[in-house]
Amino acid sequence: MKKLWGGRFTKSAEEWVDEFGASISFDQELVLEDIEGSVAHVAMLSKTGILTEEEAEKIKTGLLQLKSKAEKEELSFSVKLEDIHLNLESMLTDLIGPVGGKLHTGRSRNDQIATDMHLYLRKQVKVIVTLLNELQTVLLEKAERHIETVMPGYTHLQRAQPISFAHHLMAYFWMFERDKQRYQENLKRINISPLGAGALAGTTFPIDRFYSAELMDFEGIYENSMDAVSDRDFIIEFLSTSSILMMHLSRFSEEIILWSSQEFKFIELDDSYSTGSSIMPQKKNPDMAELIRGKTGRVYGNLMGLLTILKGLPLAYNKDMQEDKEGMFDTVKTVIGSLRIFAGMIATMKVNTNVMEESTKNDFSNATELADYLSNKGMPFREAHEVVGKLVLYCVNKGCYLQNLSLAEFREASELFEEDIYHVLNPKTAVQRRNSAGGTGFKQVELAINKAKLCLNEIKESVK
Ligand code: ARG
Repeated sequence: MKKLWGGRFTKSAEEWVDEFGASISFDQELVLEDIEGSVAHVAMLSKTGILTEEEAEKIKTGLLQLKSKAEKEELSFSVKLEDIHLNLESMLTDLIGPVGGKLHTGRSRNDQIATDMHLYLRKQVKVIVTLLNELQTVLLEKAERHIETVMPGYTHLQRAQPISFAHHLMAYFWMFERDKQRYQENLKRINISPLGAGALAGTTFPIDRFYSAELMDFEGIYENSMDAVSDRDFIIEFLSTSSILMMHLSRFSEEIILWSSQEFKFIELDDSYSTGSSIMPQKKNPDMAELIRGKTGRVYGNLMGLLTILKGLPLAYNKDMQEDKEGMFDTVKTVIGSLRIFAGMIATMKVNTNVMEESTKNDFSNATELADYLSNKGMPFREAHEVVGKLVLYCVNKGCYLQNLSLAEFREASELFEEDIYHVLNPKTAVQRRNSAGGTGFKQVELAINKAKLCLNEIKESVK
């Protein structure tokens, strides 16, 4: 098969060289974006008089035919034609004759591929933002039902202070809120057009970059043609934002895995999000959560990959940059899949409120309450800490918890203790009293949930 750039070459490449150099096996994912970019380009060529209306019309009709075939997955691509651009151009020419060759006027594959990826990523990031919003909605609904569900809060994975389960869930809500903001910030830099930058230096044809940008709904154009074709920072930003999101999902997964273990029994995952063991009939494994935790690794890897690919490249385009795509596609799929699964997993999980609440009664996580109690009565906090520390030790030796001590035992430690100490020690009271801004007190959690609802509504408007 004759190469479209074959003029300067005398030898044909060995087949394996073709295959090694080709990107069609993966960049066919961009078929619709490539056509969309070409449709905008040809409309611009016609508007500026670079092509006649008649020529442009023929090309556009051909492109739309290819589009409908692509949507039905009827196109078959050839490795010999290297990439999506050359494959489509060759199909176009087969379809409408030599006039198809005029489509590439004033354009290079370098600005073409950059355009395709901007179009692709813009679409996918909007999907991701919508999915994040859905996951947040699920979290919010769960949180609303569990404002007064008390559970142990941990530091160092040791029981620290009792908290509201809703507060724990809402911690993730706000992490996802920031992830969403990062994606939206990223969108600003994705939503600009590289088209018309040419190979690197612009073109001699009187093109109108603003017009093609407008047709593709881009907010503006890259100011510098060399920058437009050679940077991939918009993808790096996407991979980095996705890495942070996956880190959040992975931590949450870890908690889901712990909570659904026999040791915690705080939640039970729905059967559809767990699997059994082929050998141990009693098992119900939190596979989906484990997989999301595991897949975080490939997303980090994709980020490191692209950073490394670009770090030594002189301006402008270099073939190394063809390696920017697979990690991007893989990350898009991983993030979308993980978000979908996660929302379903949270929506369907059963919360064992009794187990959570019972566990707050069988530990020393109310020790801070005692120290606060004493310092409220004038004892310096350090001293109060010491008194309570001794009481905890006393309980450990006696084999009981603080709430099991008699008032006499309390008063032996400090005269400041009175009958109301038992109320203070109740884990529910402990949670309720943490009414500082952003704290776990029931009132604060309710306030936070109301604020969160406002955030969700805002986003629904912005991704339209
Ligand atoms: N397949 C190429 C890529 O993905 C398209 C751009 C090729 N440009 C070039 N001058 N070889 O990067």
